[in-house]
Amino acid sequence: MSRSDRAPRRGAPPGRHPDLLRWNARYADEPPAFRPHPLVEAALDAGLPEGPVLELACGRSGSALALARRGRSVIAVDISDVALRQLGAEADRRGLRDRVHLVQADAQAFDTSGNRFALVLATLYWDPAAFRIGCAVVAPGGLIGWEALTAAQPRRFHVRHGELSAHLPGGFQVLSESLVQTGARVTTRLLARATAGSPLL
Ligand SMILES: C[S@@+](CC[C@H](N)C(=O)[O-])C[C@H]1O[C@@H](n2cnc3c(N)ncnc32)[C@H](O)[C@@H]1O
Repeated sequence: MSRSDRAPRRGAPPGRHPDLLRWNARYADEPPAFRPHPLVEAALDAGLPEGPVLELACGRSGSALALARRGRSVIAVDISDVALRQLGAEADRRGLRDRVHLVQADAQAFDTSGNRFALVLATLYWDPAAFRIGCAVVAPGGLIGWEALTAAQPRRFHVRHGELSAHLPGGFQVLSESLVQTGARVTTRLLARATAGSPLL
């Protein structure tokens, strides 16, 4: 990760974020798979306008790599510098490093500096502030793809099925919202299109 890659633009310094140590330890222990998320194919099938992609809480994202391989410029944001280094190394190895821009930052306070994105993606992550930021920067005609763990009772990083679409601001059309069971894990997956420009933050 270059120095400019690493610079957060707003919010608590990532170096002191409470989630940082936990995720860094986990990523240092587990080898990455770099598998693209099914929302990538779903978004491409649904049709995307020209333009860059923003992935929030990207981890070691196979999605960012797959989208970069399709020619998209991807801003990949995560709190974990270990995850971003591993993703950057893999992007290098695949010759995609010029299209994968790594940003160590808190997704809940990420400053997109007025940019708009053809696709905003977040998988296995939930935070309402990050979701609001993501929705606000989808370009007209662009998509938001979001998947989060579900729970019947309120729990950090979890949402109830149906809650993602309920959090969408006006000007979005839901293309699909489904419950997904993967082994013991149950998630809710949303794909929605911005039918009109959403107001910038
Ligand atoms: C369950 S992992 C999901 C990673 C990836 N999106 C995936 O689908 O495999 C959750 C990710 O959220 C990141 N994360 C947690 N809190 C964050 C925050 N406040 N800002 C940005 N990233 C955060 C973690 O570092 C981790 O990479």
